Amino acid sequence: MFETLEDMPADAILKLIGQHRDDPRSEKVDLGVGVYRDAEGNTPILRTVKKAENWLVGTQSSKAYLGSRGDPVYCDAIQKLVFGERADSKRIITLQSPGGSGALRVGAEVALRANDQARVWVSEPTWNNHIPLLGEAGLKLETYPYYDVDQNALLFDAMLAALNDAAAGDMLLLHGCCHNPTGMDLTAAQWDQVADVVVERQLIPFVDIAYQGFSAGLDQDAYGVRMLFDRVPEMIVTQSCSKNFGLYRDRVGALSLVAADEATANILSSQAQSAVRTMYSLPPDHGGAVVSHILNDAELRAEWHDELAEMRNRLKEMRKLLVTALAEAAPAHDFSHIERTTGMFCYLGISADQVAQLKSERGVYLVDSSRINVCGITAGNVQYLAESIASVL
Ligand SMILES: Cc1ncc(COP(=O)(O)O)c(C=O)c1O
Repeated sequence: MFETLEDMPADAILKLIGQHRDDPRSEKVDLGVGVYRDAEGNTPILRTVKKAENWLVGTQSSKAYLGSRGDPVYCDAIQKLVFGERADSKRIITLQSPGGSGALRVGAEVALRANDQARVWVSEPTWNNHIPLLGEAGLKLETYPYYDVDQNALLFDAMLAALNDAAAGDMLLLHGCCHNPTGMDLTAAQWDQVADVVVERQLIPFVDIAYQGFSAGLDQDAYGVRMLFDRVPEMIVTQSCSKNFGLYRDRVGALSLVAADEATANILSSQAQSAVRTMYSLPPDHGGAVVSHILNDAELRAEWHDELAEMRNRLKEMRKLLVTALAEAAPAHDFSHIERTTGMFCYLGISADQVAQLKSERGVYLVDSSRINVCGITAGNVQYLAESIASVL
């Protein structure tokens, strides 16, 4: 039967990583890859993660199965991280998931169990796996305008206007913070306005928060989730520990489902666990156990806050360096939007041809949309980078 299958095109980012690796130029710069990197270009294991792993190896006494929900201690800790004091509410149930992607998939499955015609509105643009992941699960997709690539600005009025076409019961996918790929987030006032529309049109918020702590801070970055929780009867929240704990390959995340009341929340929990059982039975434990130990140990948690702040501050600092260097190298062009964006990504705002030229002439690698991973910038390469960008404008 396998002869019926056709070759799938290689993932654009994986291809880019390969091209960068094979480029012999010593001054080459990689702005493509989607993981955090420090000033030396490494994606290190956090100190707190190492400590928690050592603790785990020394104390873990069994590898027996946990249930489909994962470890309840982890689930409680993540619920508190995302919802803050609202985590006391019995309207929320949380399941451990294999990364944010696993949470998105299980969230989609539960939505489809509730409504097999379920529709979700996603931003244009959005994370490049949102549409395949949610679409393959069976959700119907619609898009709303979000970002103007020519003006490097949010298309907020157009976004709200598009939502006038959404029907009651449609889901609205929002990035909790650090919008991927644009880095351009809603302000608190804009979140409030979106909530007005959500309430008025009876939409169901589906918030994907994959970078909590990478923008302004853990609580500030959860503003949208928490405010929406106060205003709507139902919502879906997917969370990832890939970035803020640096646990990419260990697959750590969580799905939270919010219902109108406790009884419905319990039904949702049983439905979500049944969906998990049919897909991967139960989530991997190691990364979740590490996160739960860090979050429940006051000393480790404080140290993790410091490590998170280090990553956050580096991202801010590199944005500032690049904008300053570009102001000098390309004074006729305005790149100030780069400092108005947050998290790991933003658009440079150049054409696909200019991206190709950067790659071939200067060894600067980024995806065609001109999305850059800010972590690829260092104090050592920023000058070369700014001159390279100026050379293709
Ligand atoms: C917006 C967004 N959501 C979810 C994810 C999923 O992350 P993971 O499955 O690696 O935890 C990512 C990863 O890049 C992302 O950018």
